[in-house]
Amino acid sequence: TILVLDHGSQYSHLILRRLRDMGIYCELLGCDVPFADIPFRPKGIILSGGPASVYDAEAPHADPAYFEQTEIPLLGICYGNQSIAWRLDPMNVIRSDHREYGSAEVKIHRVSSHVDRLLEGVGESMEVWMSHSDKLGSLPENFEIICETPSSPFAGIAHKDSHVFGLQFHPEVTNTPCGGQILKNFAVNICGCSPNWTMSNFVDQEIARVRKLVGEKSQVIGAVSGGVDSTVAAQLLKTAIGDRFHAVLIDTGLLRLEESQQVKETLQEHLGINLTVIDASKAFLDALAGITEPEQKRKVIGNLFIDFFEKEALRIEKDAENTPNAGPVRYFLQGTLYPDVIESISWKGPSATIKTHHNVGGLPARMLNGEAKLQLIEPLRELFKDEVRALGRALSIHVDDLVMRHPFPGPGIAIRIIGEVTPERVAIARKADHIFITEIKKAGIYNEMAQAYAGLDSNKAVGVMGDNRSYGYIIILRAIVTTDFMTGEPYEFDFKLLKKISTRICNEVHGVSRVTYDCTSKPPGTIELE
Ligand code: XMP
Repeated sequence: TILVLDHGSQYSHLILRRLRDMGIYCELLGCDVPFADIPFRPKGIILSGGPASVYDAEAPHADPAYFEQTEIPLLGICYGNQSIAWRLDPMNVIRSDHREYGSAEVKIHRVSSHVDRLLEGVGESMEVWMSHSDKLGSLPENFEIICETPSSPFAGIAHKDSHVFGLQFHPEVTNTPCGGQILKNFAVNICGCSPNWTMSNFVDQEIARVRKLVGEKSQVIGAVSGGVDSTVAAQLLKTAIGDRFHAVLIDTGLLRLEESQQVKETLQEHLGINLTVIDASKAFLDALAGITEPEQKRKVIGNLFIDFFEKEALRIEKDAENTPNAGPVRYFLQGTLYPDVIESISWKGPSATIKTHHNVGGLPARMLNGEAKLQLIEPLRELFKDEVRALGRALSIHVDDLVMRHPFPGPGIAIRIIGEVTPERVAIARKADHIFITEIKKAGIYNEMAQAYAGLDSNKAVGVMGDNRSYGYIIILRAIVTTDFMTGEPYEFDFKLLKKISTRICNEVHGVSRVTYDCTSKPPGTIELE
């Protein structure tokens, strides 16, 4: 394993990505983790970049023991490189307010055989990506220059006798074409790692880790939604501890049409996960009566969700008292992914702040501190979205059906119904949504959009049905093309298809008089209606 010590760079995760893509397992720890507390024995350590200057009062300085030890090779990148040089003599680093940002051509000096091994296959010069303010102003004692550019004479350094290297540029970004090769050379040639890590190693490793953490008796509870992340996380837990993992699907009545049944089929019948479906739709719809304000809806749904979840945790706990091999419910499974983790990383490293937006109403905080007092288990915390898919496949889940499923917000259809959420309006929106999605799938264009749904306007409009005047609901169709969900464009439908969908909805969903297509981009619109 290679340890990547994070100083808060926006590129830290790319170091992991690059190495893992080449079959080298690596883990990220915050730079505030003392050397003695590393939970595994790394074969090499990469010190990431970071936004701070070594001179800042609050600059993150890793435990000196990382630098004092001589057994494990070190590679400093950008800020990591500066911190190696600064430790030896603060005068080695020049403070600068000017940022060097962009491509540069570095000249390589092959001064020794271990530098040759680090830069194997790279040539005599290479294009690299620079993004830094401070830089080295002099060569640390006992180091040699291995790369230079006209503006950075110490763009790469290596210790004369030990395996300590520093690079001013970023080998982890694609704008440094040879960067992956350098990282691999460091891991394989210098640290002696074997590039044979695969997702099935990860499965074995995580299963062992979960078993050790949870112990022989404790139980784990986790909310599932039918989405890829929660399904893969649940399957991993089931594989590790069997029925001591309890998956809970709270049917808020605000899920897509027939969705709770489908989730049950996939998780319980196909995957054999110990699942409880709680039909809480009446409670949710009762609690939403009379509420029209979007944030208020979110709050009501979020709070009620936790109430139900907490009750279920306590119920399982009670049951356990009468079951010989089951202990207390101690852990709460969450399908947090690495991108969620990095969004909340400050330069202090990946401290445990958790983004709450995608967890209904801030579920973790209350679960952790409330009556149930659960601890988090986040087995996907180190993974990227596509790695979760690979993990799903390694766990024999037919992820392909799940993978491309459009995301669905925690508050469900409630934020797609403008105004009051009543049972009648939910039923109408769900039926229209079902027709819309069915037609999209039939046309083979489901994967061309990131999210699509049918929502409901708060007003009614006049129409004519047969010979009679009707006064019915207005359906709003929305389909968005996006990769990051931060910005998006409306999907450009074939108009004939839209007309067909409109006709089907008006004919088949009683009470609808009109169908509109929302062609607002994001921004200024949002993806959801509320
Ligand atoms: P907006 O509407 O903000 O949506 O453009 C961006 C993405 O976030 C999802 N979303 C939510 N997910 N709880 C969630 O779990 C929420 O309250 C929530 N609001 C929006 C939305 O579906 C889209 O993918």
